[in-house]
Amino acid sequence: MKTYELRQGSGVESLVLTERPVPEPGPRELRVKLRAVSLNYRDWAILQGTYGNFARPLVPVSDGVGEVVAVGAEVRRFKVGDRVIPVYVPDWVRGGPTEESVRRRLGGPLDGLLREYACVHEDAAVAAPAHLTDAEAATLPIAGVTAWHALFTAGRVGPGDTVVVQGTGGVSLFVLQLARLAGARVLVTSRSPVKLERAMALGATAGIHTGSEPEWEARVLALTEGRGADHVVDVVGGEGVARSIEAVRVGGTVTLVGFLDSPTVRFDLARAFRRIVRLQAVSAGSREDLESLGRALAAQGVRPVVDRVFSFDEARAAYEYLASGAQFGKVVITLP
Ligand SMILES: NC(=O)c1ccc[n+]([C@@H]2O[C@H](COP(=O)([O-])OP(=O)(O)OC[C@H]3O[C@@H](n4cnc5c(N)ncnc54)[C@H](OP(=O)(O)O)[C@@H]3O)[C@@H](O)[C@H]2O)c1
Repeated sequence: MKTYELRQGSGVESLVLTERPVPEPGPRELRVKLRAVSLNYRDWAILQGTYGNFARPLVPVSDGVGEVVAVGAEVRRFKVGDRVIPVYVPDWVRGGPTEESVRRRLGGPLDGLLREYACVHEDAAVAAPAHLTDAEAATLPIAGVTAWHALFTAGRVGPGDTVVVQGTGGVSLFVLQLARLAGARVLVTSRSPVKLERAMALGATAGIHTGSEPEWEARVLALTEGRGADHVVDVVGGEGVARSIEAVRVGGTVTLVGFLDSPTVRFDLARAFRRIVRLQAVSAGSREDLESLGRALAAQGVRPVVDRVFSFDEARAAYEYLASGAQFGKVVITLP
């Protein structure tokens, strides 16, 4: 079968198209023929060698969807022909994370999904929501689940709340769509006025252009009559976390999800205490989160935002496009 591998080096040259044998499913495994995968910022960071330092050669990419083409003798949950989504953190089935359950992850340290076939344990797969295309279904495991976990499993977002989301990447647009489903108002920041218009069309209540308003937290306070937002989902990290803490209401929540700017965070702890802010780090989520997300999207007919679809042969270009930051939503690669 055709597969990509990350070999030594960094940059897209380390992403090599090669051959491996088609894998044989164990007694409780499914052989899945991948139809589409989606890229996350994590995939770019792993390729660059700035995240995880995983052993290579490694089949990259965590998120995908495919068709079950063979099953082991003891498989009960799925049958040949089912369309399934492999779970990014395969051992985290439900409840909170544990040392053991979060260690193994697809796309590093485990081999990922940028290949024609992969075998996954039947307990580490969920049925793909029927209303979604392959490209859309491939976006759920990291970006969708992280947004779900932040808002509803670790957070308590509900009707009438104000949620702030930064940028218009994969995680952020899921936060926008899911918070709207829950009846919340959503304020979106972006470096691009054009992307803000698209976010408004998706249901954002207001957009804040960080180019012209770098002190975006002041606008959040103005838009909430000085009260502050109930929940800020911070994907940028760095010194900007101080702004997220300024932007949140007394007793509100800042969820730390990413560090597009920097993993080194700096903020005034006295301010966080004064406002009794809840700071929570969220990293992906469980199979149960993925199942809940799929049900919610299906119930409301909501579709993830896919910006651009690349062919399997164009995988390097897809990575470069993700890194450019030009995308609005998810970058997808389809398989032959
Ligand atoms: N903890 C977790 O479980 C988890 C899961 C998924 C992702 N993450 C992390 O969350 C972050 C976002 O991931 P993603 O996959 O959604 O990324 P993505 O799809 O690549 O989107 C990133 C978006 O953020 C904005 N942006 C980029 N660099 C920025 C910067 N320096 N300052 C401000 N805004 C910036 C851009 O939007 P505009 O052009 O609109 O400004 C860009 O489109 C990453 O750090 C990723 O590692 C964490």
